[in-house]
Amino acid sequence: MSTAQSAFLPNMVVYQIYPRSFKDTNGDGIGDLPGIIEKLDYVRMLGADAIWICPFYPSPMVDFGYDVTDYQNIDPLFGTLADFDRLIAEAHKRGIRVITDLVFNHTSDQHPWFKESQSNKINPKRDWYIWHDGKSDSTPPNNWLSVFGGSAWEYDSETGQYYLHSFSKQQPDLNWDNPEVRQTMQGIMKFWLDRGVDGFRMDAVDFFAKDKALRDDPNNPAFQSAVDLPYDSLLHVYSKRQYRLFKYLQELATALSQVPGRFMLLEARPHAQPDIWWYQQYYEQVDARVAAPFNLQYVQKPWEVGAFKQSINEYQGILRPSDTPVYALGNHDNARVATRFGQRAVFAAAVMQLTLPGVAVLYYGDELGMRNRFIDPNNVKDIQGKGTANQSYNRDPARSPMQWSAELNAGFSTGNPWIPVNDDYQQLNVATEQQDPASLLSTYRWLINFRHQSETLKYGSYLPLEMHHPQLFGFIRTHQKERLATIINFSPNESAPLEVKDKVIFSTHGPQVDPHLMQPLEARIIQLED
Ligand code: GLC
Ligand code: CA
Repeated sequence: MSTAQSAFLPNMVVYQIYPRSFKDTNGDGIGDLPGIIEKLDYVRMLGADAIWICPFYPSPMVDFGYDVTDYQNIDPLFGTLADFDRLIAEAHKRGIRVITDLVFNHTSDQHPWFKESQSNKINPKRDWYIWHDGKSDSTPPNNWLSVFGGSAWEYDSETGQYYLHSFSKQQPDLNWDNPEVRQTMQGIMKFWLDRGVDGFRMDAVDFFAKDKALRDDPNNPAFQSAVDLPYDSLLHVYSKRQYRLFKYLQELATALSQVPGRFMLLEARPHAQPDIWWYQQYYEQVDARVAAPFNLQYVQKPWEVGAFKQSINEYQGILRPSDTPVYALGNHDNARVATRFGQRAVFAAAVMQLTLPGVAVLYYGDELGMRNRFIDPNNVKDIQGKGTANQSYNRDPARSPMQWSAELNAGFSTGNPWIPVNDDYQQLNVATEQQDPASLLSTYRWLINFRHQSETLKYGSYLPLEMHHPQLFGFIRTHQKERLATIINFSPNESAPLEVKDKVIFSTHGPQVDPHLMQPLEARIIQLED
């Protein structure tokens, strides 16, 4: 038995940066690496332990960087490798770890590997991607769908075969069953580790292994064509999530554990199948000292007690002490937290997320309460948004520029932002909220600081707390002699009786709280006595 420690900080707060939208320094309307460097003091002020930067590699930007043409370089839009090295140095100087995004399931169709692969059937790179003959009537090999719409197969007339793309046709899937591919990807990971990267966010890992017999995915009986993405008309039991993907991830985990303290966060997407069982497989099959799946069950949910209470209790229930839960409430693929939960509930949501165990991942701007930006349906930039009539799947609204100040373009850019700044920026911005002790930003700062100082939030176990009220969700963190309870009233309009007279450490509703009554949308942290 190895005694190696977990590579995760016990209560790490990760701040997710979408680089296009964070801070532009050269006036082209697109955020860049020098912009991130400029704002590292802000990240430190917020108290985050790490930043996760979404892809910045050279890319045709069909999926804004999730279509990579060179894994070992920086797109000129974002800067240079020298900027990246400076970013690492400046972040480390401030005690901030840097997590980068590895998009390993697919490349861009413009990647030199794919161009070779496509060139002819006997090219040595042919097998780096997933090529297959069509059926005898020359339709695609099976019914698999692309997340972004349409068949997952694209016909290539030059060589007379189809290639597989789980996302857009400009994002052909790599063939992870090919050992050369796996070795190459490990080498890329090493390249960034050598440059000082502290951890990785692994994109779309559920898709690393597909059914070898290419069986059709079954229909999804719960599919509602008016609200769901066309992709969800099938249950993706064959086109992804085959067990051997864990073997491939474990190989990456082994490579990663060569360098102490480095870790990876795995993007396991929510799915129609029971998610908890699947998350458990990630923990058990991939070295949990260096790897943990995101728990993404909440990134599409509204603010309802039923969406959180039972699911969080169940989730904590399956984890072994060595497992690190990773909670995210929002990200760049889903509607903003403040839009889904409402502008008052986000305070309670912050208390919940920052008192839960493990890693808390916070999407840029959610600490301000930024909301979805309205996007004209004729001006959609997102490839997923273009592929569906249902604009709730357009991801542009959650990617509008960071609101730094009440100045021009919210202080994001002196040029023309690639997505317009949200209309509320004059009131809702960093500069204003920093001045206001009751703002969401100040609440986040307080909570993150508390999270870091509390041994109980760092090391404490998790126990559900039975509240005997349908709108209340409570849990207890216990460490040595201390017991901290978090209690949340999910109801937006009804108070709820409470019989806990112990010391209130924090309430979203100010220092003077009624010990017997929780206000609507109130969240409290209470130190329980014996
Ligand atoms: C992940 C990313 C998403 C991207 C997709 C394809 O789900 O979060 O933004 O479009 O993978 O790479
Ligand atoms: Ca720029």
